[in-house]
Amino acid sequence: MRKRSLREVEVGGRTVLLRVDHNVPLDEQGRVADDRRIVESLPTIQYLKEREARVVLLSHLGRPGGRPSPEFSLAPVAERMSQLLGEAVPLAPDAVGPGAMDAVRALAPGGVLYLENLRFHPGEEANDPAFVSELARLGELFVEEAFGALHRAHASTVGLPRRLPSCVGFLVEREVLELGRLLEDPPRPFVAVLGGAKVKDKLPLVRHLRTKADEILLGGALALPLLRSAAPGEPERDPGIEELLHQRPGEAAVLLPVDFLVEGPGTTGVLTVPAHPLPREAQPLDVGPETRRLFASRLGMAGTVFFNGPLGKVEDPRFAGGTREVLSVLRSLSGPRVAAGGDSSRALQDLGLEPCFSYVSTGGGAALELLEGRELPGLTVLPDA
Ligand code: 3PG
Repeated sequence: MRKRSLREVEVGGRTVLLRVDHNVPLDEQGRVADDRRIVESLPTIQYLKEREARVVLLSHLGRPGGRPSPEFSLAPVAERMSQLLGEAVPLAPDAVGPGAMDAVRALAPGGVLYLENLRFHPGEEANDPAFVSELARLGELFVEEAFGALHRAHASTVGLPRRLPSCVGFLVEREVLELGRLLEDPPRPFVAVLGGAKVKDKLPLVRHLRTKADEILLGGALALPLLRSAAPGEPERDPGIEELLHQRPGEAAVLLPVDFLVEGPGTTGVLTVPAHPLPREAQPLDVGPETRRLFASRLGMAGTVFFNGPLGKVEDPRFAGGTREVLSVLRSLSGPRVAAGGDSSRALQDLGLEPCFSYVSTGGGAALELLEGRELPGLTVLPDA
């Protein structure tokens, strides 16, 4: 499923609408707190600049609900981009209309500007044809670089590529390649490490990876419903969760933690408790020492690794050890080691574990939907190579 690449398109001197996902976290002062998504789009921007294209950046930031709202302005993002490029990157006052048109007309060849937040208009999320027409008027070519937004069927992700000649940028190309090869013939054994807190959201991912991986190591809150379902005499059994405990031929085995760390009663001290039987009142906050050994030994033999979701409450240093110890094993591996998901990449950064991975995706929901085997509307709509 290779999509037409930027390299296959004539861009010299053209006005390019470059959809990026610069939906980045801001700190309390309203400055960009993590610029990874901005930095990862630079190779495409530089490529276009070198060919004297006029680069018009389109992005959303947050969920302003279809109304202009100063706290969701792309101004801090444009400021960070100016620093990174070492040149002024103006921000048009609006995504469409005379202000946007004037700003685009003022662009010199090789110049870069941002349109203001697309989601200040209800037409963006509604994929309103009138809004698409207004956007399409601003450029000659559409380049899709917003990997993190490909699961959204919005005006800028689906409407525009239907209206203008289109291709994928270098980041989208790399994301699709790195995530796609987890699903298509990965070096074996393929071991997935899945954790995090959003249990119900993750079940489709666990189900799909079961048909692709050889082993799934489950930690974090994700493991709890399975452990509880497995406990004898458990009154609230969930058949959707329980079926994951039964391995069918050809499916990955699901490995659950054998012990956990919990907070000692009335203290800030930490206790280790067994997972079988897991005491009803226990609130596991990290995987215990036995589980760390077990998971690390499985990962040590992996040909391919996928990671999504920390194994404990990593924002508390007392409960970051499980994720750190288990993932540190990846340093000595040479096959694909891929991480995806917003909470996962933040955890990896905070724990200094990014160097353990061969690729860390910029996508949150989009990466997970791809790995759940779902179609990404923003990708499907683009022309094949
Ligand atoms: C993301 O951060 O996952 C993307 O930018 C999509 O944002 P959304 O969930 O608000 O559509």
